[in-house]
Amino acid sequence: MKFTILMGSPRLQGNTAVLCRPFVEELKRCGAQVRYITLADKQILPCRGCYACQNVQGQYGCVLHDDMQQIADDLIWSDCIVLAAPIYAWYCPTSMKLVLDRHYGLNKFYGTAQGSLWAGKRLALLLTHGYEREYATQPFVLGMQRLCEHSNLQYCGMYSVRDTDGPEVFRSPEAERGAREFARTLAENRRVTG
Ligand SMILES: Cc1cc2nc3c(=O)[nH]c(=O)nc-3n(C[C@H](O)[C@H](O)[C@H](O)COP(=O)(O)O)c2cc1C
Repeated sequence: MKFTILMGSPRLQGNTAVLCRPFVEELKRCGAQVRYITLADKQILPCRGCYACQNVQGQYGCVLHDDMQQIADDLIWSDCIVLAAPIYAWYCPTSMKLVLDRHYGLNKFYGTAQGSLWAGKRLALLLTHGYEREYATQPFVLGMQRLCEHSNLQYCGMYSVRDTDGPEVFRSPEAERGAREFARTLAENRRVTG
């Protein structure tokens, strides 16, 4: 099983990164191949909405030349995509939103090209947030569920930890246990709720 994790926090040693460590470790322990990408290191330009990608058959086909081509290749390589992010303003940080907007070339729905470069892949969420779980994560989860419906991806659920008291919460045995269990569930392709 091949996983690409897009880590969207600008804090490379922050809460989300801390939560990712046991998660990635457990995926690897289960035999998964893992590509871990920190979006804060990447140059990702905003989608121009030019629709040029919609006329490029069989390739991502974006006219912008930045790190998104490599990220698209990583997504195409994956069986399962994990969006690891802090909730920012009830959604996700800017770098992840840039990637989400730039998904367009993976779906060929609006031009002469046809098909999809990522239909059937699985998508899961690993989130951190300040507010209570449901209240904090619902808008982003709903957005990602809609993206999955639209793109024919399989939404595989979410694990999240609330930032109640800074980084130590994310290093707690409980947070680590949950991250590992979520990793095992995904690696073994079991069903998750949430
Ligand atoms: C700019 C900013 C916006 C935030 N917006 C929200 C929010 O809308 N809802 C929420 O529950 N928490 C919000 N938070 C709290 C973060 O999601 C939380 O502290 C998270 O664990 C930070 O993760 P990080 O250390 O990986 O960046 C926000 C934090 C920042 C810095």
